[in-house]
Amino acid sequence: MPHDATHAPDAAQPRPDRNESNDPDSVREFFAARADRWDEKFPEDGPAFEAAVAEMGLRPGDTVLDAGCGTGRALAALRAAVGAEGTVLGVDLTPEMIDTAVRKGRQRDAGLTVADVSRLPVCDGALDAVFGAGLISHLPGPEAGLRELARTVRPDGQLALFHPIGRAALAARHGRQPAPDDLRAEPNLGPLLARTGWRLTSFTDEPDRYLALAVRTTD
Ligand SMILES: C[S@@+](CC[C@H](N)C(=O)[O-])C[C@H]1O[C@@H](n2cnc3c(N)ncnc32)[C@H](O)[C@@H]1O
Repeated sequence: MPHDATHAPDAAQPRPDRNESNDPDSVREFFAARADRWDEKFPEDGPAFEAAVAEMGLRPGDTVLDAGCGTGRALAALRAAVGAEGTVLGVDLTPEMIDTAVRKGRQRDAGLTVADVSRLPVCDGALDAVFGAGLISHLPGPEAGLRELARTVRPDGQLALFHPIGRAALAARHGRQPAPDDLRAEPNLGPLLARTGWRLTSFTDEPDRYLALAVRTTD
């Protein structure tokens, strides 16, 4: 059973190099059961999403993907950043999450579809940026997922890995210490990104937010 990345104990997060527990069927089942009430569970997260999107430095006209968009909590901020002339896409593995996003009218801000970030229906280099909130801990193969995201982003394009709570605060909530092998820890994430077509440019892990920014490297 995969963990809710927002509230899961840190010690239970997957290893940096592999994650056998997050098979797609289990991930889908887990989030399908939570889709209806996802936003109610975290009603205070909106400003943190807006601030994270603001730090991406998106420009009007950009094309941005929300990878693992869930119910689409980031989509309005992404749309505001790229403007009417920009393109916002949202993909999620769990149909119920996309259904909830549509019920909330968030398809007005983005093109939404069910897809696995490890096999994206997006051309090479088509995107200026990818935003992923609470995503990478759920990927069965983080390397494959990050490589696929890199494939779809143009050289010097951007990746933002966000979480509305920092790693230590998340662990403390569960009476634990952050696990040293958490792939989101900077010593693990930097090399993981470097192996998959990215260069970590900024890393913030504060009580009320986690934000890692990276740029697409050229091979
Ligand atoms: C913790 S939730 C975060 C949802 C949303 N980004 C948010 O912050 O509200 C993780 C989301 O990632 C999706 N997900 C997990 N693995 C995925 C994959 N391989 N491809 C696409 N989406 C995936 C799940 O279905 C779930 O909606």
